[in-house]
Amino acid sequence: MNPAPDPLTTSAPAVTQDLAARFSQEFGSAPDGIWQAPGRVNLIGEHTDYNEGFVLPFAINRTARVAVRVRPGSSVRLLSTYGDQGLVSTRLDSLEPGSAKGWTKYPLGVMWALKQRGIAVPGVDLLLDSDVPLGAGLSSSHAIECAVISALNDLTGAGLEAQEMVLATQRAENDFVGAPTGIMDQSASLRGSEGHAVFLDCRNQNVRLVPFETQPADLVMLVIDTKVSHSHADGGYASRRASCELGAEVLGVKALRDVQLGDLAEASGLLDEVTFRRVRHVVTENDRVLQTVELLASQGPGAIGPLLDASHTSMRDDFEISCPELDLAVDASRASGAIGARMTGGGFGGAAIALTPVALEQKVRDAVATAFADAGFKAPDIFAVSPAAGARRIA
Ligand code: GLA
Repeated sequence: MNPAPDPLTTSAPAVTQDLAARFSQEFGSAPDGIWQAPGRVNLIGEHTDYNEGFVLPFAINRTARVAVRVRPGSSVRLLSTYGDQGLVSTRLDSLEPGSAKGWTKYPLGVMWALKQRGIAVPGVDLLLDSDVPLGAGLSSSHAIECAVISALNDLTGAGLEAQEMVLATQRAENDFVGAPTGIMDQSASLRGSEGHAVFLDCRNQNVRLVPFETQPADLVMLVIDTKVSHSHADGGYASRRASCELGAEVLGVKALRDVQLGDLAEASGLLDEVTFRRVRHVVTENDRVLQTVELLASQGPGAIGPLLDASHTSMRDDFEISCPELDLAVDASRASGAIGARMTGGGFGGAAIALTPVALEQKVRDAVATAFADAGFKAPDIFAVSPAAGARRIA
């Protein structure tokens, strides 16, 4: 993929040097390289990816980084700076779904998926570091997978294109980790670009980078991590996906992407009430993505607030994947001056985003923190994000 931009010398940024030094200390010699991949925020287009629809995520300036060295033989040694599992050693030929625990599922899932594609994966030593908050709906797991696949793609000379890496990491998630997710997160992480959102057509994987910068519009994108952790391997995500598949089957289409706004009236007569609401979310959400792309081009980010709000309402009422903490984050930030807010990611916890005038940033932060304290919820973590570069080799 990418040539090494920096040797592991004093010219490398501190974070890279620290990781290289830690790797040498743990594994006895320097890594072959360091790769990083970002988490993502989804601007809009939720639960549309596995319905072959449209999404508009962006890579964020929070990344997972892996220092990797190829080792002789077929054993793998994994360590993270989280320090929760210590050194994990395993053999490549013993990898199978269900065989890994904790964060090691993600690198091992990628190795397994590459092997399934017939790629000769070598033994490696790997040290992971990440500042993507875990379980916050910002794709911390995909950031790990995308950093690892970028590293292995380079180290094996496999020459996979970004789309192929997207599908391999999806296979790792679906079949090794056991989370029936779509292709949005890894597409943002692998194909993101600074100052842009990734407009992805999930039917054909075509990507158009859409300029998206909040600063020139005097806006800031705040992430409100509710600290309600979620997992896509739990039942909620899968049951929403199953409802969508049922809806498509009853309506006689390949995927809900093929249902238009004008078809909804007829669909309401054909579907049970709950399935209809699930379908209505997906159909209206696809339309909101297209409208957002148009508005960003014609008027800029200051114009998309109402679409973010409508997306949240649809997820809360039709798709029913919000939770009290997410609703409060959205309501409190809107009431204190955000121009649009919505939960982002798979739902059932995780984070909300609030597009906020710079002049009101502190007010919104304070209002959300106070509302959470008053409601007796855990203190949220609130931070600003901006669209950042996708996965790459950094040393
Ligand atoms: C998770 C999944 C994605 C997508 C979103 C919901 O982040 O990993 O594939 O389905 O939920 O939009």
